Amino acid sequence: AVQELESQFDATIARDQRIEPRDWMPEGYRKTLVRQIAQHAHSEIIGMQPEGEWITRAPSLRRKSILFAKVQDEAGHGLYLYSAAETLGIDRAELTQRLLEGRQKYSSIFNYPTPSFADVGVIGWFVDGAAICNQVPLCRSSYGPYARAMVRICKEESFHQRQGYELLLTMMRGTREQREMVQDAVDRWWWASLMMFGPPDDDSPNSAQSMAWKIKRHSNDELRQRFVDMTVPQAAKLGVTLPDPELRWNEERGHHDYGTPDYSELKRVISGDGPCNAERMERRRAAHEEGAWVREAASAHAAKQAARARA
Ligand code: ACO
Repeated sequence: AVQELESQFDATIARDQRIEPRDWMPEGYRKTLVRQIAQHAHSEIIGMQPEGEWITRAPSLRRKSILFAKVQDEAGHGLYLYSAAETLGIDRAELTQRLLEGRQKYSSIFNYPTPSFADVGVIGWFVDGAAICNQVPLCRSSYGPYARAMVRICKEESFHQRQGYELLLTMMRGTREQREMVQDAVDRWWWASLMMFGPPDDDSPNSAQSMAWKIKRHSNDELRQRFVDMTVPQAAKLGVTLPDPELRWNEERGHHDYGTPDYSELKRVISGDGPCNAERMERRRAAHEEGAWVREAASAHAAKQAARARA
């Protein structure tokens, strides 16, 4: 019987149809999705921190309200993603626990500091731009609830990307100091943004199976290349230099050649030893503890409503 279920599952994947929560799925498929979706959800929530620091210091009411909306969207993305993970039989409380115990990861990119307001712009341009490259293909991921969550997330990510780029265009029209701030932020974020796509393909243990299951549609290096090709003309238009002496158009390949990111840094940051890992986790833990009364009150309220409905 399991064999029959398995061949049905394989046929669904082969036909490019969606797997839905009530369908049978191999345990490895479920585990891979929980791992990837939870990591993604945690990234959205922890990703509120680096930019959130600028909400009270944004230079104008307009910038403040844009940033507020953006950071709030990230909370929303985290919630859709936890909901998608819940359809796999694991709840948000358990996933949060795993994050806090260091048993699950979140994106390396959120372990870098944001010392200047230009960082808000560069995060929008690079980090949200990279997120779009990575996540648009996930709208066609084989697991229905994940793919559908991704559609809305990607629409919001493109607004985030545009607000970052527009902020930078404005700063580039400003003073010499402002232009230097932008270039400095570009220099600090470029390589870390390339690392968001994960280790190179020959060192990516999960890619082959995730691609066979059509959870991932493209390899880490393919998406990284797409990001480089997309960003180079945007940098030229903005008037900044990407800090990579090896970056050049390769006519034969029809793509830009670029230098190799320092993947030992990626490993270090993923394993907890990046510039802001301790600070981010401490803040996440404190927020969780400070929110305990809200969770308790909501549960008590829900229990009361349920009892009333039964009576
Ligand atoms: N930061 C932290 N961990 C990473 C990163 C990164 N940038 N890249 C890879 N890893 C981890 C993987 O999770 C995996 O560890 P695990 O097995 O414990 O989960 C390990 O490094 C090896 O990597 P891969 O075999 O390449 O892993 P995978 O196939 O999952 O690919 C990727 C990694 C590309 C990040 C994939 O999980 C993905 O597409 N996730 C969805 C997008 C996402 O999570 N984005 C979050 C940041 S974007 C944003 O929120 C704005």
